[in-house]
Amino acid sequence: MIDPPYNTRSAFSHYDDNLEHSLWLSLMYPRLELLRELLTEDGSIWVSIDDNEAHYLKVMMDEVFGRVNFVANVVWQKKYAVANDHKTIAPMHDHLLVYRKTDRWQRNLIPRTEEKDRQYKFEDEKGVFRNSDYTCSKSFEERPNLYYAVIQPNTGEEIWPSKTRVWAYSKEEHLRHVAEGFIYWGKDGLGRTPSFKRYKHLLRNQGVVPQTLWLHEYASHTDASRKEVRTVLGSSSLADDFITPKPEGLILRVLEIATNPSDLVLDSFAGSGTTGAVAHKMNRRWIMIEMGDHAQTHCQPRLKKVVEGEQGGISKAVNWQGGGGFHYFRLGETIFDEYGSIHHNVKFAALAAHIWFCETRVPLANRADSPLLGIHNDTAYYLLYNGILGDRRPQSGNVLTQAVLDSLPKHSGRKIIYGEASRFGKPRLEAENIVFKQIPYDVRAV
Ligand SMILES: C[S@@+](CC[C@H](N)C(=O)[O-])C[C@H]1O[C@@H](n2cnc3c(N)ncnc32)[C@H](O)[C@@H]1O
Repeated sequence: MIDPPYNTRSAFSHYDDNLEHSLWLSLMYPRLELLRELLTEDGSIWVSIDDNEAHYLKVMMDEVFGRVNFVANVVWQKKYAVANDHKTIAPMHDHLLVYRKTDRWQRNLIPRTEEKDRQYKFEDEKGVFRNSDYTCSKSFEERPNLYYAVIQPNTGEEIWPSKTRVWAYSKEEHLRHVAEGFIYWGKDGLGRTPSFKRYKHLLRNQGVVPQTLWLHEYASHTDASRKEVRTVLGSSSLADDFITPKPEGLILRVLEIATNPSDLVLDSFAGSGTTGAVAHKMNRRWIMIEMGDHAQTHCQPRLKKVVEGEQGGISKAVNWQGGGGFHYFRLGETIFDEYGSIHHNVKFAALAAHIWFCETRVPLANRADSPLLGIHNDTAYYLLYNGILGDRRPQSGNVLTQAVLDSLPKHSGRKIIYGEASRFGKPRLEAENIVFKQIPYDVRAV
């Protein structure tokens, strides 16, 4: 689920939402391509957007995900009050463009509502049921086989469909319904209009097929989202100045249809952290990415409160009691360029952090400022790098020479040394207990 900036030409304090149309599209395109790569084969992507870019985004998503994988354009009624001062036609909705990665994606049915259940107001020895019409709107000419007399079992009267309709079932099916007690003739059993008993326990599925029209009663509205953020973060300006959060009720509906407990939900435009908050309360795993400061000022405190069991948003609806946890990471500089090569501008500290993480699988605690990055499981990790990629001059500091080895902080155990080149042969490296790894070839993305 992503909720990127809509490009609505209004200046938001947290991000630039006023980009050139083409620039907006060219920012979205590579991100969508990447998101497609990250999506599981049985996964789906939901993108919220308004009328400014929705139709261009649809075309772009067709290209990235394939038209065959377009699932739906959900129309969400984001407002319940019309802006009466609007000069033309007041917008009341946003879109959710839904694509699947492949045809392996399966949507869930949505839980039956109490209102639907209330239709089951009759009961007999077999269970609760509702009545459904025993006729259909075809004519005798169209379906002569569905035009026949049924017998009222208690009066013996022959009953025919009205002139403009026929029965909804063939005679054989009708006789089976009679034998199995599926026909309702009114409370006293003397009615003249048969209806079909639809037993609740015989429903093929206990849910309801999701639809493309989501009214605010079903999927909440933007007023609610502002209150939700205010409730979690306190009525500080912090909560108030983030003006475009989504309501938890909307994300609940998305995750209900698209995911199951313990599935992984990614939101790469986290904003105030609604997707993570809802995913957490619904026992889904989640990853959120946010480039603005509100990763720290909004997402982190919000998710802490969720873990502590805050009772706003959808908490009561899903009986959220708190629990679980999360990690908060600050992304480092980009190490690789778009071709997968080490970026020519990469600095020592960024490369050091990357190498340390790849080798040890734990983040480097402090910003590296020495060739000895640290010692992990009795192996010392060194990085020889002066900040100039490809600089192989022996005196550059990037090359493992006797002088460089003498200058490095000592470690008696195993040493892994990254550098542009090594002047030592294999026997010498073995004798010194050194594994030499060459930049850039031995620096991997993961
Ligand atoms: C419309 S808001 C999302 C609101 C969110 N759904 C919520 O409920 O709070 C879009 C967010 O995307 C962030 N953003 C924009 N470009 C980004 C990028 N390239 N990477 C990560 N976040 C980005 C913005 O800082 C902004 O917080």
